[in-house]
Amino acid sequence: MIIHKNFIDGKWVKSSSGKTFESINPATGKTIGCFQSGNERDVNNAVLVAETAFKKWSDVPAPKRGEILFHAAHLLRKEKERLAQLVTKEMGKVVYEARGDVQEAIDITEYMAGEGRRLFGHTTKSELRDKFAMTIKRPVGVCGLISPWNFPIAIPAWKIMPALICGNTVVFKPASDAPLSAIEFVKILIKAGVPKGVLNLITGPGSTVGMPIVKHKKIPCISFTGSRETGETILKEAGVKKIGLELGGKNGIIIMDDADLNLAIDGVLWGAFGTTGQRCTATSRAMVHRKVKRKFERKLVDRTKKLRVDNGLKSSTDVGPLINLSAVEKTHMYVDIGRFEGAKLLCGGERPKGKGFFYKPTIFTNVTSDMRIAKEEIFGPVLSIIEIKNLDEAIDIMNGIEYGLSSAIYTKNMKNAFNAIDRIETGLTYVNSSTIGSEVHLPFGGVKKTGSTREAGIEGINEFSETKTVYFDYSGRLQKAQIDVVR
Ligand code: UN1
Repeated sequence: MIIHKNFIDGKWVKSSSGKTFESINPATGKTIGCFQSGNERDVNNAVLVAETAFKKWSDVPAPKRGEILFHAAHLLRKEKERLAQLVTKEMGKVVYEARGDVQEAIDITEYMAGEGRRLFGHTTKSELRDKFAMTIKRPVGVCGLISPWNFPIAIPAWKIMPALICGNTVVFKPASDAPLSAIEFVKILIKAGVPKGVLNLITGPGSTVGMPIVKHKKIPCISFTGSRETGETILKEAGVKKIGLELGGKNGIIIMDDADLNLAIDGVLWGAFGTTGQRCTATSRAMVHRKVKRKFERKLVDRTKKLRVDNGLKSSTDVGPLINLSAVEKTHMYVDIGRFEGAKLLCGGERPKGKGFFYKPTIFTNVTSDMRIAKEEIFGPVLSIIEIKNLDEAIDIMNGIEYGLSSAIYTKNMKNAFNAIDRIETGLTYVNSSTIGSEVHLPFGGVKKTGSTREAGIEGINEFSETKTVYFDYSGRLQKAQIDVVR
């Protein structure tokens, strides 16, 4: 079996821990490879070289950094199919979705490469004569990037590309359920010309790699996507730093009585069972108007039962496996909770026979907003249907939880749509489309316990840069703001 290494200072090196771990194909149970179980010493080494590399890299003109990123996008495009197959083998999502994962990485790479020729600050007028006012962007320093397994190429790209274009250097810890995708991704960036020391990768557990990154005094910027519990620990442990957190959701779709029902069902199926429900943006609640609920349920259950659950590499598969055994157990635990709480199971609720970490797409109805299955993130293929009598009630239920990432409404009524846009407390709202499917040139992120970071788009630049305000006084005398009144 191949033993993969960490990447520090332009070299592939073993961890000083002497320990390794395996990554498993969740559809077959077969091992993908063996990886370094990194430790604090590895992190310290990486930070040291990243600090040194920062001096040079931050001095490279941003458009030149952009050229390397454009080259990386080109190489990613060439390798798209190979990477997509790897993503499916390593974390299970169906291969056409894995292609989307890689495409999202290509898109953000190109977008951020272009930012090399922008990185705009702004200018404005001073309140005094002969004084110029503007803002500029500066890099932050060494960025500690910790990414999840559910988008093993796209999310690292969302973080690495803006970090690099802004002139930062990186210590990157990928999720232990998808380290090989991250390694292959880093190899492409190296091939594209990212200089040594600028991008360093360490695999291993959160406790021995993630935490030393988070706590490291020489890392002023952390970006983490993952569970709420880990996010809260990061906030406690990191100290004063620039911290980006993306911590999941409990996303809902409102289906009004005037909705195009078939369109809404397409959206709910895609949102709830795409990526086997393992997206931060997954639809896990459907708030359905009581006038259309019965019809909606009948059609939805019919379509759900036809979904083919199988290895994501097969072109006939609709829903791949969950990431690992504990994800299966967690999903099943929530099914038990739902039953216990008195929700009615319409379909699924069990593992199919055979090998692999599969779980049947599951729908509960008669769910009420106080039930745990209506409030807690499951990160599996479980949908809760909640009956609503009007939009106000739907919005109250939508907002009545701790998360605030994504939301959607299906309606033909513009007033309903704009009301929802205005009043729903989430970072993303879709009208007549599912809760998933963000595009890279728009900001992505949430409110409340999801965290308030915005990644991607122009706001992705803010995550990895500092804004400096510059006052340039050319009057030749001391002018006092707020005091010397200009007439
Ligand atoms: C995530 O699940 O963490 O909008 C990100 C979407 C994808 C990104 C999801 N473009 O579902």
